[in-house]
Amino acid sequence: MDYKAFVADQIASLKKDVGQGVAINALSGGVDSSVVTVLAHRALGDRLKTVFIDSALMREGEPQRVVKTFADLGIPVRLVDARADFLKALKGLTDPEEKRNAVTKTFYSTVFGRLVRETGAKFLLHGTILTDIEETVAGIKRQHNILSQVGIDPQKEYGYKVLEPLMTLRKDGVREVAKALGLPPEIAQRIPFPGPALATRVVGEVTEERLAVVRVATTIVEEELKDTGAFQYLAVLLNDRATGIVEGKREFGQIIVVRCLHSVDARTATSVDLPWEKLHRICKRVTSIKGVNRCLYDITPKPPATIEYI
Ligand code: XMP
Repeated sequence: MDYKAFVADQIASLKKDVGQGVAINALSGGVDSSVVTVLAHRALGDRLKTVFIDSALMREGEPQRVVKTFADLGIPVRLVDARADFLKALKGLTDPEEKRNAVTKTFYSTVFGRLVRETGAKFLLHGTILTDIEETVAGIKRQHNILSQVGIDPQKEYGYKVLEPLMTLRKDGVREVAKALGLPPEIAQRIPFPGPALATRVVGEVTEERLAVVRVATTIVEEELKDTGAFQYLAVLLNDRATGIVEGKREFGQIIVVRCLHSVDARTATSVDLPWEKLHRICKRVTSIKGVNRCLYDITPKPPATIEYI
């Protein structure tokens, strides 16, 4: 595929579709939404309003880091603090699909609805890729960014039209487009991070306290595994507890699962044979998080598992 031609075609289509209107997009800093942001900024200039929504579900320092990366590329990004909205919507929920739906609904109706009204945008750009559509249509999972494919009319339900310039590509194709756009390797090669963010890595109720635990574990795992070249690596907080001994006292503590996977496009994945030394170091660091006394390495491939836990 000629990725330079893909870029030129998408820029032309965005210009045509949006006309003199205003478009809005949410940037997460992942390769998909980053590519959409750059394509749309090239097509629309300041008629593109890019926001980063701080959902309380992001990794350590991520909102500020993403805004700075794009400022350095000359693309202004507005940081929107919606932490309270998401935490409120997730309160008390434990079912995976209910949690995903709460994130989707809060994202589109509550937070985006508010921003769309403020900016007057009639177009929403989204980084949906082919794998998202296939898995949603197949009923494997309701992805957070699929609307029309599952029969929701965004114009009718949310008041805007969704444009999805990457919907014919898989992850490897998106990375090629990122390269063709001249994006730096920290964006083009960044490991996937799901739209519902750390909510997919907290089994059971998503609370500020539980997010804080998985966030620290995520930082540790990402630091330790970035040199593996794996497709994706992550930490998950389970809803179970296990007995441990901390400072000579029995503690019914929390359990963190580590995952590190080879994959090409996330449709299938196999676990990486990590060296024991690396696993021991991760275990030591993870179990030094207050309240965590077990660290497990999950070697299950996809299928039968999925990559994320919800
Ligand atoms: P699963 O867990 O289904 O994940 O094996 C496959 C890939 O997709 C990512 N993922 C998501 N990405 N919105 C996204 O943008 C989502 O709702 C979502 N759920 C999972 C996951 O991180 C993996 O790379």
